[in-house]
Parts: sequence; C-alpha cells; structure tokens
Amino acid sequence: DTPAACPAGAPTPPEAQGPELFTWEFATDPYPAYAWLREHAPVHKTRLPSGVEAWLVTRYVDAKQALADQRLSKNPAHHGEPAHAKSKTGIPGERSANLMTHLLNIDPPDHTRLRRLVSKAFTPRRVAEFAPRVQELTDRLIDQFVEKGEADLIHDFAFPLPIYAICDLLGVPREDQDDFRDWAGMMIRHGGGPRGGVARSVKKMRGYLAELIHRKRLEPGDDLISGLIRASDHGEHLTENEAAAMAFILLFAGFETTVNLIGNGTYALLTHPEQRERLQESLGDGGDTGLLETGIEELLRFDGPVELATWRFATEPLTIGGEDIAAGDPVLVVLAAADRDPERFDRPDTLDLSRRDNQHLGYGHGIHYCLGAPLARLEGQAALATLLRRLPDLRLAVEPGDLRWRGGLIMRGLRTLPVEFTPAQQSKY
Ligand code: HEM
Repeated sequence: DTPAACPAGAPTPPEAQGPELFTWEFATDPYPAYAWLREHAPVHKTRLPSGVEAWLVTRYVDAKQALADQRLSKNPAHHGEPAHAKSKTGIPGERSANLMTHLLNIDPPDHTRLRRLVSKAFTPRRVAEFAPRVQELTDRLIDQFVEKGEADLIHDFAFPLPIYAICDLLGVPREDQDDFRDWAGMMIRHGGGPRGGVARSVKKMRGYLAELIHRKRLEPGDDLISGLIRASDHGEHLTENEAAAMAFILLFAGFETTVNLIGNGTYALLTHPEQRERLQESLGDGGDTGLLETGIEELLRFDGPVELATWRFATEPLTIGGEDIAAGDPVLVVLAAADRDPERFDRPDTLDLSRRDNQHLGYGHGIHYCLGAPLARLEGQAALATLLRRLPDLRLAVEPGDLRWRGGLIMRGLRTLPVEFTPAQQSKY
C-alpha cells in the first residue's frame, strides 16, 4: 500500500514541486534551479535552512523593481527584529556603540545621511589613487607561490588580497594587518567553524576599530578612517559609533565579495579556455584593454559573488510579479537568477567577456547600490590580469567536479581553488 498505488496519495511529480533548494548539488550549481523558478514560480515562498520563510524573486524585471522599492525596508525591525538586537555589547569605552546600524540595515532618511557622508570620504578618486598599491599587493602575493608551480588560489591569493587592500585603505597599520587576516579568516569559515570563534573575532575587530578611530581623531592621516571622521555635510559629522559601524561594514561588505569575485572569476576563465585565451591575448602589447573591463562585468553577471541581495522586509502589503506579499514578509532578491534571465540577456548561460549590453545586478540597484564597486573593479581587474600575465599556463589542478562551494545563503564562492603552472620568477617587489 505505497502512496503510489493510491491515486489520491500519489506523490507530486518532481517538476511540479520544483527543485530542491539549499542542497549540496544546489550549492555546486544553483543555475538549473533558478531557471526552473524563473519559469514556473518567479516569486516563490520558501523555507530557508534557518527555518525562516522568505520570498525569492528570480526574474530580472521583478528583481530590479524590488531592489528600488522603498516599501521594502532593510531594517530588520520590520520582521520583528530590531536592528540593534544582535549587537549585545557596545564598543569598549562607549556602551551605546552598535555596529548593526550600518548602511545595509537602515532606510532613508538615516541611510541618505550616512551614505552622503561616507561618499565624501570614499571617493572614486581615492580608489583610483590606490591602484599602484593594489598592483603591488597583487604582485607580492603571487611572488609567494610563483616559484612553487602550484597554489590554492583562494587561500594564497583571493583571500588575502582584499583584506590587505581594505586595511591599507582604512589606515590599519601594516603590523596589525595579519590580525585582521586571522579575524576575517574566522568569519569566512563560519560555515564549518566554531560559532564562539566568530563572535570572538567580531568582538576583537570591533574593539580594534574603536581604538583606531579614537587614535585617528587625535592624529588624523591621509586614510579613509581619517576621511570618515573629517567628512561633514551641512555641519554634520559621523559620530564615533557611526564611523566604527561604517568601517566595519566596509570591511565586511568588501571582503568576502571580492574573494569570490577573484575565485569565481578565475574558475570561470579556467573552465572557458576560448574566453580565457581571448583575454590573455588582449593583455599583451597593443591588445584590446577594453576586454578586461567588459570581462570583469561579465564574470560578475555570469557567476557573481553575491547570489542573493541582503534581506528586505515588506513594510506594507504589496505585489511583486503578481504575488501578494504580506507586511513583515522577508524578500530575497536572487541576483544570480536575475542575471541569467533570458528575457533580459541574450544567451544568458554563455560567458562572453566582450558582452556590451550588460546591465547586471551583481552590485545591486537603487539606493543600496554597492558603494565599493570602483574598488571591487580595481581589485578584480588587477588580480585576474596579473595572474594571467605572470602565470600564462595557469590550469586547474583538480577536476571541476571535485571543487567544493561554500553554500552560504547570500554569497557564492569556492572553498579552495587548487591550480598548477610552470614555476616562474619573482617580481621586483
Ligand atoms: C552593497 C555587491 C565589493 C561595500 C552591495 C550590494 C551588492 C554588493 C549586491 C547591495 C546589497 C543589497 O542591496 O542588499 C558587491 C560585490 C562586490 C562588492 C559583487 C565585489 C565584487 C564591495 C567592496 C566594498 C563594498 C570592495 C567596500 C570596500 C559595500 C557597501 C554596501 C554594498 C558599504 C552598502 C551600500 C548601501 O547600503 O548604501 N555590494 N560588493 N562592496 N557594498 Fe558591495
């Protein structure tokens, strides 16, 4: 008497149920599941591994609209969870300090004020001036493994580059940067790592940042933290708490994302030899320098670091793609699905580094559009171009099927990326 023997109890055919989300297979390749959702259930309520029910928005047109919809708040208070709830301790020396009230957790008018202030310090010019330092960092990291003929590009390259870059930019002295590398390592490993270790690392980082901000107030420098302290708008400044929360979100938002841009991007190039060859040729003398620029944007669209945009909560009942969303419901915009939507992109599953019509959502859209996009582009371009130039026969050391993906909810990235190449010389650094 199996259910299959009784028509009323027959199991629903798998294609009607839809794909199973958040499994190991899904973490490895979520794109077939997203294609199904886009077609059959473009705005889909699902239970997340945490048990919370949320709407997944997968079509480009709905995703773009949702990202710009002011009725979708970033403040977790709309889901019955105050923005401050998770931060139980203040920054040492200031009991009210709170790192959770940062840009990605707040709405206008607070968001408008903070974003305007940070934009005065974190300018495209500051990023452009930082280019030589990013190049030097990139070469130094490659120097450490170039003579060995093998490396794990996540551990040895993609992971340290953004953390050292952002530390430099913020003004964290070189001698303290390895502490940041350790704390950040603990945070990125949190999937399998000890929970207490993550909390301790956040606490240490928070304490360190509070002290650093205090020091920079007394002795300002030419760095971003001093710039944040100095920034003013109609006589208004960031408070010490706000500056600490800002430094923290810059580190947080700019770290794992960039690790994954470099990791996913390199992996995509190594598994698409024709595209990689085109790019490699263009990097030679007299080549088409524009291919690196369009190429990085295409790698973001094709397999970007941010699979789902961060949480949004409905402040009132609304409709997305014909589905009624109740007030308080969490909404997750699936950037990775929107960026493969055939309604928006020609041959969406094809990697084409010269793609021109490429308004992908990899950096988000609307008022929370990625503040660090110019820095991410700079690091991504330097990292991939330098790898291909210095290690021209770079190749995977394992079969693609043997690679493990992290399987987090928001981010998409590899745990390791073992590669081989002909050993080469160290650079002048
Ligand atoms: C926001 C992606 C690198 C700082 C965002 C958002 C996305 C994103 C999708 C919007 C999230 C949402 O609407 O829920 C990326 C990607 C990166 C990257 C793909 C690398 C390839 C960086 C870097 C920094 C940074 C390097 C800074 C150093 C921020 C900040 C926000 C943000 C501060 C919040 C902006 C706001 O709420 O106004 N990023 N990011 N990001 N990103 Fe990035």
